[in-house]
Amino acid sequence: MAFSTNFKVLGTMTTTLLLLTAVKASIAIPSTGTTSLREEAHKKNITIGSGAINPTYLEDPVFAAVLAEQFNSLHPENEMKWSFINPSPGHYNWDPIDRLVDFANEHDMLVKGHGLISSCCNPDFVVNITNPEALRAAMTTHFEAIMHRYEGRIDRWDVVTEALKTMGGGLNANDFSRQLGSGYINEAFRIARAASPRAKLYINENQVEVLPGKRQELQDLVSGLVADGVPIDGVALQMHITEVAPVPGVITDMVRFYKALGLQVEIAEMDVHTLNKTLETQIYGAVIKEALEAGITDISFWGFTDKHAYTWVPGAKPLMFDENYKPKGAFYATHSALEDFVDEC
Ligand code: G3I
Repeated sequence: MAFSTNFKVLGTMTTTLLLLTAVKASIAIPSTGTTSLREEAHKKNITIGSGAINPTYLEDPVFAAVLAEQFNSLHPENEMKWSFINPSPGHYNWDPIDRLVDFANEHDMLVKGHGLISSCCNPDFVVNITNPEALRAAMTTHFEAIMHRYEGRIDRWDVVTEALKTMGGGLNANDFSRQLGSGYINEAFRIARAASPRAKLYINENQVEVLPGKRQELQDLVSGLVADGVPIDGVALQMHITEVAPVPGVITDMVRFYKALGLQVEIAEMDVHTLNKTLETQIYGAVIKEALEAGITDISFWGFTDKHAYTWVPGAKPLMFDENYKPKGAFYATHSALEDFVDEC
């Protein structure tokens, strides 16, 4: 396989929409020298997506072209978190998400909802609620407004993100648990299911692939939800990795566990925060390979270009394309994992 990163004229690209868009804008993007992730994923019925898509990034034609070429799913960064989309009662900022949904529609991509209940960004009118009934009513109004607007256009949702403390050791105290206790998770899923009966509903969590104690806590939490008849469809593993890669077999074990409960597992926000490029490439390849072999069919990253990376490790470049959209080793490792995967189910 040629790993040429020479620039090529867009007239050679296969996607008609991409060709038209690019020629119109007279842009050139770095060639990967190979098929797209999306093409490889399509052959195996895999959803391959990018989260952390701030709609303003779409103004960059190269960003938009690479996104549409490489991925068949997208989801927002912060734009669906409560204070961003619904900063005051009855006021909704629909434009950013409308823009993402329209872009996805134009490029035949799925859209995932992210941020119904998140670990940050609640507006004052929610934070200041002191009555459980009023908070339930606010959650219902908020979920219904958003899920009804995008019914049929957003197929899956992170209903509750980061319920557990980052390093494990119990539930995160948040604006919802303070009013409703641990039952806020149960209530959030029930409200979401009532608002959107056909969408897939996920609990989204970090670090469980590297922290055995937290892994057990999430398994206990989700088992309890299932036992209580809570309408949950799956577990979204964020998969924000640093120098510590998941021990081989852990992803497979988690998939087996949740499958036995009747749930799906997806990788929701993968990125690798290390200054060691070789390690970054190895981790991308190993995680995607194991995930595919374990039966995960929905894999998303927390962005794709280091131009717009969110990292807490100074100097880390966690994504598959560099700041100039040149594909990195992580891209080729991911591509090979997809290309080599043989679905034996
Ligand atoms: O919008 C305010 C702005 O008004 C203010 O002046 C500025 C000052 O700091 O902050 C702005 O808000 C920031 C927001 O991003 C938008 O830029 C917050 O401080 C900042 O904490 C927030 O960070 C986000 C983080 O979640 C916390 O919610 C990141 O952009 C976002 O990428 C990150 O995403 C999370 C996923 O939702 C869940 N999983 C982990 C992932 C991070 O790896």
